[in-house]
Amino acid sequence: MLDIHKVRADFPILSQKVNGKPLVYFDNGATTQKPQVVIDAISKYYQEINANIHRGVHTLSQLATDAYETSRGKIQNHINAKFAHEVLFTSGTTHGINLVTNGFASILKPGDEILVSALEHHSNIVPWQMLCEKTGAVLRVIPMNQEGELIMADYDKLLSDKTKIVTVNHISNALGTVNPIKYMIDKAHEVGAAILIDGAQAVPHMKPNVQELDCDFYVFSGHKLCGPTGTGILYGKEAWLNKLPPYQGGGEMIKEVSFEKTTYAELPHKFEAGTPNIAGGIALGTAVDYMNEVGFDNIQQQEKELLDYGTKRLLEIEGLKIFGTAKEKTSVISFNIEGIHPYDIGTIIDKLGIAVRTGHHCAQPIMTFFNIPGTIRASFAFYNTKEEIDLMVAAVKKAQLMLS
Ligand code: ALA
Repeated sequence: MLDIHKVRADFPILSQKVNGKPLVYFDNGATTQKPQVVIDAISKYYQEINANIHRGVHTLSQLATDAYETSRGKIQNHINAKFAHEVLFTSGTTHGINLVTNGFASILKPGDEILVSALEHHSNIVPWQMLCEKTGAVLRVIPMNQEGELIMADYDKLLSDKTKIVTVNHISNALGTVNPIKYMIDKAHEVGAAILIDGAQAVPHMKPNVQELDCDFYVFSGHKLCGPTGTGILYGKEAWLNKLPPYQGGGEMIKEVSFEKTTYAELPHKFEAGTPNIAGGIALGTAVDYMNEVGFDNIQQQEKELLDYGTKRLLEIEGLKIFGTAKEKTSVISFNIEGIHPYDIGTIIDKLGIAVRTGHHCAQPIMTFFNIPGTIRASFAFYNTKEEIDLMVAAVKKAQLMLS
């Protein structure tokens, strides 16, 4: 069982007031708050071991390199990757996806097909569209139903020997739907296609096991699992990472450079040009340790209670409609109130200390599907409470009164 008071005390920001009211932070889908241990890990790096990595023989450089590589190892264990060199540090999910789409530019031919799901964030749509423009490949969309679930019968029909890669999120940022990715991975492999899983919204709630899933690529951001912004991970199977060309050229990604020819470094360095976010990478390892100490069973139990309670309480409000009612969903509630623009509700409840995201959530095709401009999205983390949900419900009711 989670000791919620103890957990909340780990996050200094949660005891703040915003607009003179206690902060109720329900924008965890956008970014999670940071526990003190993560904040300390960043300052400890700069106070004690700041130096560039993989370059110097001097002591600080070695200490920094060791701390960075230890963090890579922690993430390898966390996601159960076979090799540490299959774990690449990136600046976030968007970077990871662009690294893969850039690599596929040298693989795809005109007429090849890329399957993308109707539930994607723009960061998992636009890079693939750019790839289609470059290569002549064709983008096909796996449709969803009114509950916000992908339709597997249609997915099966879309797959063919033309499909070269499938890309899908593990969990939808806008609706909270948990997609049947194991099924989708196995089906993609049956036609010889690769598959990328966007795990940005999954890693705060669960531990992905990439070997068991057998996905080819799994990407996520550090800042959504209590780590620093500007950090992320691209897991790729060794064979794929060896096959793809480097994304960026520069220092650290080379074996030998001459003006006639450059040869590239081994994995993971081939994809890690330039000085990375060293402090961030180290602190991401600390965040992963922290989440494991809290325990994903505890996290899931708390978040399920919040989802059930929040759904029940919000549905008491007249004219409120929830978008995203999948059987499998995480602690995200996207909703609208009849006749009121989501932005107006968001602005009023912010004055009452409640932080939610409003708008299209970088997932405009989902909003188009439901024929709405956007939603109000409350996304709960394990450090949230039912009392906070009560405050949000009261604030939304007040806003509704003011606006109708
Ligand atoms: N992708 C983040 C969200 O859903 C920013 O809010």
